[in-house]
Amino acid sequence: MADTTKNNPTGPRHIAFIMDGNGRWAKERGLPREHGHRFGVKAFRAVLDHCATLDIDAVTFYAFSTENWKRPKREVNAILRLMDSYLAECEKKIDDYAFRIVFLGDKAPFEGARRTRMERLEAHTRTRRRILNIALNYGGRDELVHACNLLLASGKNTVTAADIEGALYTKDSPPLDLIVRTGGDLRISNFLLWQAAYAELYFTDILWPDFGPAEVDAAIAEFHQRKRRFGGV
Ligand code: IPE
Ligand code: IPE
Ligand code: MG
Repeated sequence: MADTTKNNPTGPRHIAFIMDGNGRWAKERGLPREHGHRFGVKAFRAVLDHCATLDIDAVTFYAFSTENWKRPKREVNAILRLMDSYLAECEKKIDDYAFRIVFLGDKAPFEGARRTRMERLEAHTRTRRRILNIALNYGGRDELVHACNLLLASGKNTVTAADIEGALYTKDSPPLDLIVRTGGDLRISNFLLWQAAYAELYFTDILWPDFGPAEVDAAIAEFHQRKRRFGGV
């Protein structure tokens, strides 16, 4: 990956967002949870557009976890429909898009037109330098199990850290610098378990539909105040 760090010497080069709080946002307004997800997509667009203007090499969004299938069918279907319309919109505007799109997670449950569209978006944007990772049916544990199975299938019986990194869904992304979680909960919820090893963590009580460019800038400003030691002194 080409080095753009001269324009952004202190990073972050890779930011990941845990987009949490859509359901509570809707509840506060007396609306069904599905409406929260609809407004969540609006916030996602605004944050992504803002990230495109910043000197960041990769941005990752946690959209649907391997555990989110436990939710009521009605809510899961609403999320999948929102995802379909977002992917259709992406496909239409694909040539204006600043990013290479990569889906993190197991695509197995996605079939037919949805699966084809995901693969087309990935293939069509493959040569772009900056990466947009969309974590869909993603779990950090699942990613590590998947990586182990890939390595076993390749015939390895001992592995190095570099082998594991090369078998993760994020293999083409730069190291993760910053995780931002909205919605007030202080946990990772099975997100980027390997990649988070030395990422800075930023938590805010703001619910995802209320999160926007100004809050991204606040998280980056806070990142610049942190002293990263990576185990050194
Ligand atoms: C995050 O918002 C979106 C997804 C997990 C798909 P939630 O739906 O988890 O909202 P809360 O946390 O219940 O408020
Ligand atoms: C994390 O949020 C998953 C996504 C944002 C997609 P959850 O709402 O699923 O996390 P928990 O259940 O509060 O840990
Ligand atoms: Mg939640």
